[in-house]
Parts: sequence; C-alpha cells; structure tokens
Amino acid sequence: MHTGKQLSTEIDATVPTAARMYDYYLGGKDNYAADRAAVEELDKVVPSTRRLALNNRRFLQRVVRILTQEYGIRQYLDHGSGLPTQENVHQVAQRIDPTTHVVYVDNDPMVLVHGRALLEQDERTAVIQADMRETDEIFGHAETRRLIDFSQPVCVLFNSVFHCIPDSDTDGPLALARRVRERLAPGSFMVTCQLVSEDPEVRASVTDFMNRATQGRWGRVRRQKDVESYFEGLEILEPGLVEVSTWRPDTEVAPRQLTQEWIEFGGVGRVPL
Ligand SMILES: C[S@@+](CC[C@H](N)C(=O)[O-])C[C@H]1O[C@@H](n2cnc3c(N)ncnc32)[C@H](O)[C@@H]1O
Repeated sequence: MHTGKQLSTEIDATVPTAARMYDYYLGGKDNYAADRAAVEELDKVVPSTRRLALNNRRFLQRVVRILTQEYGIRQYLDHGSGLPTQENVHQVAQRIDPTTHVVYVDNDPMVLVHGRALLEQDERTAVIQADMRETDEIFGHAETRRLIDFSQPVCVLFNSVFHCIPDSDTDGPLALARRVRERLAPGSFMVTCQLVSEDPEVRASVTDFMNRATQGRWGRVRRQKDVESYFEGLEILEPGLVEVSTWRPDTEVAPRQLTQEWIEFGGVGRVPL
C-alpha cells in the first residue's frame, strides 16, 4: 500500500482524491470525471453521503463561529482544510473578528492551486502544502510561525480528515492527536470528527472501495469508540461526541441523512486550564 506521505506537486486528473470527491459532494467545480465517477460508485454503498458532507461542512462552520464568538479564539490551524468553498474557516472567523489568523494545511496539490488565490485573501491567512502527520514541519513552517502563537490558545482542526490516514503507532490518528495536543496552550481547542460505522460490512466495503479508488491514499472507516480515544485528556464541550449535525444545531443545519450507514462523528475538546 502507498504510504501516502509523499507530497505530489502534480495534479493527476485520472486518480480520484478525497479533496476533489468532497468538493463534488458539496456542489463545487474543482473536480474531474474520475472523482465524479467514484462518488457515483460510492453512493451505491452509502447513499446518504451528500447530506453527510453538507452537514459536516456546516458543523465546521458552526464550531468556528462559536469558538470565535463565545470562547475568544483568534487563531486556527486547519489540518486537511479541503478545497476552498463557501464560508471557509477564515471567512467565518474574520467576519466576527478580522484580526483572526488562519493557517490551512492540505497535502492535495489542487488545494494549493485553487486555495492560494481564494484563501490567502489577506496577510492573516496562509495555505501550506504538507502531510498532516508531519507535525514538526507544520508547526515549524515559516507561515505557521508568522501567524500562530502557540503560547496562546489556538483551535486545531482535524475535521473529517482522520479517515484519510491509516492506523499506525507513530502516525495514526491517536498518535497524531496526542502529539499535537501536547503542544497546545491551556484553553486551546481540538476539533475532530471522522467517518464511522458500527456495521462491520460497511466499514470493510467502504474502506476497501476508497483505498482502491485513490490508489491507497486513504485510511479507514472507524468506530465511535476510536474517535472517543482521540479526546483523551481533553474536556469535551457540550453536547459531547455526536453525529455532527446534532452538535449545537441552528437554522443552518442541512437536511438530516435519510439513512445512517455511516456518519461523521466527533466534537470539540478543550485543553484544561
Ligand atoms: C473530507 S475533506 C475535509 C475538508 C475539511 N476539513 C472539512 O471538514 O470540510 C478531507 C481533506 O483532507 C485532506 N487530506 C487527506 N489526507 C491528508 C494528509 N495526509 N495530510 C493533509 N491533508 C490530507 C484531503 O486532501 C481533503 O482536502
């Protein structure tokens, strides 16, 4: 299997990527025929995925709005940010406070191509291409050092990304969450959700499909208890770890999934003060 950690600077339109498939689900235009064909195949196994994707994005937007407005967060480090779409993290946060700093990290070269123009709208926002597992590289990157002060509270996002990486004692989601959390000041937040299913057949078939479609550049569907483990040592904000459309819903929540073969499950944790 491909380790997935080598960064590609060239866009290969023939092999689907998670970023472009997700863009298609959200109604974006930064995707190719191969991505759309993969989505159509995936829909046969998990037909509620479009609503799942919309609700995931709205969860991210609610979290950023609430953390900026109610918890005073003014710096965001967004791992696996995805292709720019409507209401990206910096737009949601900077509408509340224009001085908010945001660093986007993604390993997909398309995010860099399409992201730079749209996401780097001011000197308070940057996009870097890196594998989210390269914590030293990301925290030490010149743009991260310029924009994020890790002695102050920060929100680190791992929103809908851990299913993109395989298990590993050193680089799997649990090790990565621990490694990043150790670097955060008290009062910082970590946001995590990922695709889960309690049905072993769904876990096996979707994991297999996505790894074949992306030529091994994916991880796996996990269980709710796996996501719970990523929050060890953190205070979990109300309402806890949930299917994300039920996390502090407002009028902007998209229609719920009609079927729940898999869901985005997660929430928000705070480093104790
Ligand atoms: C489903 S999208 C989630 C986008 C966004 N976080 C959200 O919740 O709307 C997953 C993103 O993670 C990125 N990704 C996958 N594996 C990655 C890795 N190892 N390092 C950095 N980014 C990665 C993909 O390129 C894609 O943009």
